[in-house]
Amino acid sequence: MDKQLLEESLTLVDLPDSGLTVRFYDILFERYPAVKPMFQRDTRVQAEMLRIAVVSVLDHLEDAEWLTTNLHALGKRHASLGVTRPMYNAVAECMIAAMSEIGGESWTPAMTAAWEEALGAVATIMLDGYPDEATSETAAEESGAA
Ligand code: HEM
Repeated sequence: MDKQLLEESLTLVDLPDSGLTVRFYDILFERYPAVKPMFQRDTRVQAEMLRIAVVSVLDHLEDAEWLTTNLHALGKRHASLGVTRPMYNAVAECMIAAMSEIGGESWTPAMTAAWEEALGAVATIMLDGYPDEATSETAAEESGAA
């Protein structure tokens, strides 16, 4: 994992007031309207929590124990919220779309590749924290998020 490229690229697109993650939720709800009702909180609050989560993961990329403990717990909470495997692909796609939009011409394919890898790894660890029955894709198909 290219920690330096992840950090540099996040710095490039990390707007004040969680602007990146606010834009991320706009894109997510536009492309995948079926997931919108899952979110109960104000988008700004949610965006700030997601920003903190992303920065914390980057801060601990070399700390496998931290990643496992925290992302398994976060995964478990997401299982109980009804978040399914295909939704992680949707989230990664929309996060990278927001980053690429904000980064403009400075955003490179290498940055996209680095974030695809990182968000894929985070999703894998979160899904490892799920109870076995919660990873079925049927629920996602029903919610239209697949
Ligand atoms: C990169 C993967 C993800 C990360 C790092 C992440 C992070 C977070 C964090 C930090 C929270 C705050 C609440 C808590 O700690 O329990 C949260 C809540 C939540 N997440 Fe995620 N999440 C991810 C993927 C997803 C996906 C794929 C979905 C489904 C579309 C999703 C849906 C939700 C919902 C519905 C909540 C609760 C919202 C509420 O309370 O209103 N998350 N997430």
